[in-house]
Amino acid sequence: MAGLPAPLVVVGNEKGGSGKTTVAIHLVAGAMSAGLRVGGIDLDHRQKSFSHFFENRARWAERVGRDYPLPKIAPVHASERETKTLAEGEEARRLAAAVAELSAECDVIVVDCPGADTALGRAAHGNASVIVTPLNDSFVDFDLLAGVDPETYEAKAPSIYAEFVWESRKRHMIEKRKTIDWLVVRNRMSSVETRNQRRVTEALTKLSQRIGFRLAPGLTERVIYRELFPKGLTVLDLIEGKTRGITMGQIAARAEVRALIAALKLSQLSKIAAAS
Ligand SMILES: Nc1ncnc2c1ncn2[C@@H]1O[C@H](COP(=O)(O)OP(=O)(O)O)[C@@H](O)[C@H]1O
Ligand SMILES: [Mg+2]
Repeated sequence: MAGLPAPLVVVGNEKGGSGKTTVAIHLVAGAMSAGLRVGGIDLDHRQKSFSHFFENRARWAERVGRDYPLPKIAPVHASERETKTLAEGEEARRLAAAVAELSAECDVIVVDCPGADTALGRAAHGNASVIVTPLNDSFVDFDLLAGVDPETYEAKAPSIYAEFVWESRKRHMIEKRKTIDWLVVRNRMSSVETRNQRRVTEALTKLSQRIGFRLAPGLTERVIYRELFPKGLTVLDLIEGKTRGITMGQIAARAEVRALIAALKLSQLSKIAAAS
């Protein structure tokens, strides 16, 4: 549908190594395999892992002579303007231009944020339809959302990041009359539930009601989520069109990725809903 901006799925938190890029890549892969035209924006200018993944994918496709679908990636460069205010203004305009460009050809746009507070990351959160926050399965990462009482494991005050998401949502509602959905995704879960995992689950469930996020089904710790990076492939490519040699682990991983895509409720987001 021309004219409508494609919904932004912004993968963010303010911590490195919690699985943002892994989740972002699998969201792109899952949305493409569901038949959507997907755009991508990499805001982590230091790591660039999201961009590298799709560069690897294009190279691998050429090497093996296969036609792996690719998202349309739009670069958004950091501004070098002399003052912070000028730079932030320019970056917000660059992000808006990239979103407009991708919206012409895509049904949904996935944005991978850096693990730090940056102006571009803030602008992306402010324009999100959905914010997806991956969290490693421990109280160290829980701290990204709120502190916990050391004895009762009750959540205490919301973190700076949780406050920031809250502010973004409030502003979005006032300026655009639209809500921002917030999805917390547990990552690197162990396949056997430990006592610690259970405590994290309980604390997250309570916190979700208090600060208003939805808890999505998570991703387990699996080698398959990282070993295909050099080829730019995911478990979905591995299984596609194959009937033999598929392992139980691959099937389980695919189910996790699909469950995550389903939790996004993409079909309810305006542009996709309008097109279907
Ligand atoms: N579910 C998972 N299973 C196995 N390895 C994972 C999983 N999620 C992330 N990793 C690995 O953990 C590291 C950090 O993940 P990454 O997605 O780069 O985090 P971030 O983008 O938040 O810094 C990477 O080496 C990645 O491959
Ligand atoms: Mg990353």
